[in-house]
Amino acid sequence: MAERVEIMLTEEEVDSRIREIGEQISKDYAGRMVHLVCVLKGGSFFMTELAKRITVPVSLDFMSVSSYGGSTKSSGVVRIVKDLDEPLEGKDVLVVEDIVDSGRTLSYLLELLRDRGPASVKLCTLLDKPERRVVDVHVDYTGFEIPDEFVVGYGLDYDQRYRNLPYIGVVRFD
Ligand code: IMP
Ligand code: MG
Repeated sequence: MAERVEIMLTEEEVDSRIREIGEQISKDYAGRMVHLVCVLKGGSFFMTELAKRITVPVSLDFMSVSSYGGSTKSSGVVRIVKDLDEPLEGKDVLVVEDIVDSGRTLSYLLELLRDRGPASVKLCTLLDKPERRVVDVHVDYTGFEIPDEFVVGYGLDYDQRYRNLPYIGVVRFD
């Protein structure tokens, strides 16, 4: 199917917002260390840029979950594809996600991480589509609230493509 990508948020807008969030996180975690947990693959671009803007000590870990179902919808059934390498006990965990849509993936994931005894768990997402929420999820840091459109770029894919775009775009099918 033919599709094109229309820019929603430019590279400059995304980069400057990531700097702001990095500053805020650095203030909020002053005197502590923050353990970033990246949700692969989508969260990886955001996480590396964000980590560069955080001035308190940072450690990183990665996990991969997959929701069964079609390419543009989350089914709510979540499977751990790759678990974290490190235990979370006593750590100040900050989960870094690309987007919160229905909230199903995150609500499952946050519960699972909280069970591992961290000192705290917070959530940072580059994008949030509040209109689409089905499960209530508390987001601590949001890059941008966006309307209900299917977006790509900055880690987000359509059928595994477009993750490498340095901006956020909307996929148009026409
Ligand atoms: P949720 O469980 O419905 O909140 O879905 C979260 C996951 O669905 C995200 O981590 C993305 O992988 C994917 N997703 C949701 N909306 C979009 C979108 O607009 N573009 C690309 N992926 C999306
Ligand atoms: Mg994701």
